[in-house]
Amino acid sequence: MIALPPALSGHRIVPVLVIDDAGFAVDAAAALAAGGIGCVEITLRTPAALAAITAIADAGTSLVGVGTVVTPDDLNRAADAGALFVITPGVDREVIDLARERGLDILPGVATATDVLAVLRSGLRAVKLFPADILGGVDLIAALAGPFPDVAFVPSGGVSPANVASYLAHPNVPAVSGSWMAGRQLLASRDVATIERLSREAVALAGAG
Ligand code: 3PG
Repeated sequence: MIALPPALSGHRIVPVLVIDDAGFAVDAAAALAAGGIGCVEITLRTPAALAAITAIADAGTSLVGVGTVVTPDDLNRAADAGALFVITPGVDREVIDLARERGLDILPGVATATDVLAVLRSGLRAVKLFPADILGGVDLIAALAGPFPDVAFVPSGGVSPANVASYLAHPNVPAVSGSWMAGRQLLASRDVATIERLSREAVALAGAG
């Protein structure tokens, strides 16, 4: 049975936001939600990230999580800010254990079969595949699903309207993640109409997958 962590269960698309203006965070989440995407990952790549997480958590309308978690301290700060799930670029057992202690679901990033083994040893069964397209895309997932038939892979990095349906068509891919519907420029220009349109199109493509 291929399952996402409970917090993300049912979500097919996890938008990845690099946000520079926390004051736009709630409007961005609302535009994604208007397009049919009810969750959002805020990456810890900008000074505004923690305030953005808190703003969306306080608004209470979208599920908000944190990405680009590299250290235990990152995880603690994001959890204190209100993040409800955690996504990392790689496998760090200390970060995984801390997420568990704090009651947060986590998707660790993997790039190899060895990484998947490390995640399985920690007791998890769902991973982010990063950077998915550079590593080999759907073909790599098909290869990894051989030895790991029960692992859920969430590809991230290079996912786009051109390949989202083919990723989601794979039985080991319950969800994808990507920035294309709410990229940094769209956020900077507060272009809610385009974010909503691209989200709606993404949801339609996901359904087609
Ligand atoms: C990232 O690293 O920002 C995520 O994997 C999303 O990548 P993308 O911008 O290629 O969608």
